[in-house]
Amino acid sequence: MTTTPPAIRFAPEADADLAAAEGTVVVFVDGEGALAPGAVRLDKAMGGALARAIEDEDFKAKAGMAVTFAYPGGVAARAVILASLGGEPGGQSARKTGGAIAKALSKGAVTIATGGIADDAVVADLVLAVALRLYDFREYKTASDDDAPKAPREITVLADRPETLARLSAPHAALAEGIYFTRDLVNEPANRLTTDEFAARLAAMQGLGLEVEILGEDELEKIGARALLAVGQGSASESKIVVMKWQGGAADEAPLALVGKGVVFDTGGISLKPAAGMEEMTMDMGGAGVVAGVMRTLALRKAKANVVGVVGLVENMPDGLAQRPGDIVKSMKGDTIEVINTDAEGRLVLADALWYTQETFQPKGVIDLATLTGAIIIALGHHRAGWYSNDDGFASAFAAACEATGDDAWRMPLGKPYAEQIKSRKADVKNTGGRPAGSVTAAEFLARFIKDGMPWIHIDIAGVAETSSGTHLAPKGATGWGVAALDALIRAEHEG
Ligand code: BES
Ligand code: MN
Ligand code: ZN
Repeated sequence: MTTTPPAIRFAPEADADLAAAEGTVVVFVDGEGALAPGAVRLDKAMGGALARAIEDEDFKAKAGMAVTFAYPGGVAARAVILASLGGEPGGQSARKTGGAIAKALSKGAVTIATGGIADDAVVADLVLAVALRLYDFREYKTASDDDAPKAPREITVLADRPETLARLSAPHAALAEGIYFTRDLVNEPANRLTTDEFAARLAAMQGLGLEVEILGEDELEKIGARALLAVGQGSASESKIVVMKWQGGAADEAPLALVGKGVVFDTGGISLKPAAGMEEMTMDMGGAGVVAGVMRTLALRKAKANVVGVVGLVENMPDGLAQRPGDIVKSMKGDTIEVINTDAEGRLVLADALWYTQETFQPKGVIDLATLTGAIIIALGHHRAGWYSNDDGFASAFAAACEATGDDAWRMPLGKPYAEQIKSRKADVKNTGGRPAGSVTAAEFLARFIKDGMPWIHIDIAGVAETSSGTHLAPKGATGWGVAALDALIRAEHEG
């Protein structure tokens, strides 16, 4: 089962009779307190309730405002929402306001009257935000327990230029589907989303025009991906690498590679995690989830770029066959790794997934995503992802994409003294560097498995893959952080 975004219909506002619209009608007031044309017409039918609210001395129209007028007289709607983008409408205010509108909606029809908003791109961003914030994971709610209000399944957007808006919004619809896909994967429990089930869901994307290849344990053994295999050797689920290829660009052009950590559950292994909060480690496949969501988006919007997505799918379990602290494993690259802590498993998975990706696809750049360390949460909290790069040009393009989409992130440092922390007495490298700079030493570990001269970005999304309180764009649970930024990066840098 997949959760899907609401259908969006665009229609000319000039022909619409807002007073006759049922369900919920959303209208706008600008930063100066002036009602948009649709709001003025609706307010007449409502006997001036909106104008009275605006005249109140405490009233201030700012971004993120969405005030509900319930059961108003004179109109057919059950609720009218007065929303505002504030004084300087832009991407950020569109996301804030769209999220606020979505939170205020209940079931039934929805009409959003955007006439008078000058910038169509802002309206498109607002509509995307509404769709994203309406996400609701109901897979395991049985009908008998299901009393929560249902999110609207269809939204009518009235606009001055509906055709322009529909054209601008088409890629946003693909993005919303990609983000929903990522969130579903991240929200799924590990008894359901085994490595097999994960791989099957990725294989099903072949129907969208993606080429999907699955490497099982035998193949991984053959190519020498022992670091990845070691993580999964205590699990009943088979470890895998899954490759998703989108060839929308020139046939001879090297792809951009996206690589994701897909630990479907992280108990810590023999270095077992404490019981409290362990259930959250169902999200430890978040990096792989983002890669999958981006690939889905690219296929749905038929992106003119070559991108290969590679995910390492494993389960980290304690078991008689599980790897032990002190074990030394040989990676596909050939470097030997001393496993100090079996809970630092993500970097072992990525070491081989990254090497396999570079050897097989000769990409022009590599971006990996992983819920890699608790340390990045200590550094940045849940507000921003932390990222690292060896290439300033690649880095500035990525920073711009994060800024444009609201996927907040902060660049972190790499450097020799951090690499020193992971020197091993017995092997080429060890998999932990102690508590200081725990996210940086994890990044330095990965850097060993990046070839000389390969432009690379590593994103530690441990703090942002899920939200405990909800954000402008996501309810509690999986956020899909990064799908929008990577999609924007690919659009800006790799499509013509
Ligand atoms: N999956 C965890 C990191 C994590 C922590 C993700 C919290 C999301 C929320 C990772 O595999 C892990 O356990 N990292 C250890 C590394 C340590 C043993 C060096 C950590 O961060 O404690
Ligand atoms: Mn771990
Ligand atoms: Zn982990």
